[in-house]
Amino acid sequence: MRVMILGVDGYIGFPLAMRLIRDGNEVSGLDNFITRKRVKRVGSDSALPIKSFEKRNSALSEKFGSKVDFYYGDASNPLHLKKAIVAAKPDAVVHLAEQRSAPYSMLGLKEASETMSQNIMSTLNLIYAIKEVNKDAHILKLGTMGEYGTPNIDIPEGFFDIEYKGRRDTLPFPKSAGSWYHWTKVHDSNNLMFANKIWGLRITDVMQGVVYGSRTREIDNTGLYTRFDIDEVYGTAANRFSAEAVLGMPMTVYGKGGQTRGFLSLNDSINCLALALKNPPINGEYRVFNQFDEHYSINEVASMVKAAYLEMTGTEPQVQHVDNPRVEKEEHYYNPEHENLKKLGYVRMKPVSAEIKEVIADLQKHRRTLEKLKDRIMYGVRWRDSKDNING
Ligand SMILES: NC(=O)c1ccc[n+]([C@@H]2O[C@H](COP(=O)([O-])OP(=O)(O)OC[C@H]3O[C@@H](n4cnc5c(N)ncnc54)[C@H](O)[C@@H]3O)[C@@H](O)[C@H]2O)c1
Repeated sequence: MRVMILGVDGYIGFPLAMRLIRDGNEVSGLDNFITRKRVKRVGSDSALPIKSFEKRNSALSEKFGSKVDFYYGDASNPLHLKKAIVAAKPDAVVHLAEQRSAPYSMLGLKEASETMSQNIMSTLNLIYAIKEVNKDAHILKLGTMGEYGTPNIDIPEGFFDIEYKGRRDTLPFPKSAGSWYHWTKVHDSNNLMFANKIWGLRITDVMQGVVYGSRTREIDNTGLYTRFDIDEVYGTAANRFSAEAVLGMPMTVYGKGGQTRGFLSLNDSINCLALALKNPPINGEYRVFNQFDEHYSINEVASMVKAAYLEMTGTEPQVQHVDNPRVEKEEHYYNPEHENLKKLGYVRMKPVSAEIKEVIADLQKHRRTLEKLKDRIMYGVRWRDSKDNING
């Protein structure tokens, strides 16, 4: 299969490229390296060392005998994206090339507007490019479980049956996102659904949980790390807690810590995406996958990191409940369904404790890099303080 990965230099994109190449696919990719720049803009960096994309791509040739056919470009620019798709002729496009930090989108109007315009436009550009170039290509788009919010009822996979005033229908489940970033994903989902309705495009819309972890089979075999963010703006909870534990800092839990979300490891995320590519939607189908292994409260995540670190080092990390910078429920019902990927044969590979131990071991190995980022972990983005910062 010819697969194009938009966002091939990212946390998920690079290991996905390795998996697909190893499995014998022809892989092309597009990136403008904007995550590298944005993470530096908030004073941080990848805590695990990564080389330039050019060097990592050459290493792929050495390890697997094949590399990514790479296009430098901005997915939110319709010409860049269409040119790359015309040249690469993909059978499937995995769209990961969006601004992916909720806190970044809440810094102020400038960052909110950047996130809104670039995320929504990149998906719209992709929809039009696929319609014009190859209507049969499969669009595999990364959304987030955060699109649904935390309703007081079970969350289905995209659609639910509803009866209202004596009439019944199957409708998209109402979304209730918690940051400008998460709302861009809701808008993307609406646009993808509409593109499917009017042009019959084949679309998988993945509602992905929070990803943690530093390893996949290919990273284990090649030693080629993917980026690993640990700061408050770009690092997700379990990865940040692991870094805090290794640095001997308290793990910073927001508020009461009862906030519950779906989580999955990097390795499981790559497995799910590879499975979705192998089993594309039928012509004219728009399908939604809720992609996560388990749901945990933030307190449970902190406890798991604590237990793993204690077992590995004999030292018990502390937990500090800090003022919640976000506007969110701190105790709530949470029960999302996640059956569609399991029906395709998805099974989780390792227990969460094993994946957390690998993260801790990797961070310990690169302790000097981590030490340099110590002061950058807590950035202090507060949802209520997001300002109109367009004029400075
Ligand atoms: N990591 C998670 O926990 C998580 C959870 C749910 C959903 N997602 C979604 O999965 C996708 C990938 O996430 P990730 O963690 O790999 O993010 P990432 O930021 O590490 O990777 C995204 C890549 O896309 C590139 N990119 C961004 N905007 C671009 C643009 N306009 N043009 C070209 N390239 C661009 C970046 O430079 C980066 O290399 C994102 O859409 C994200 O919202 C991630």
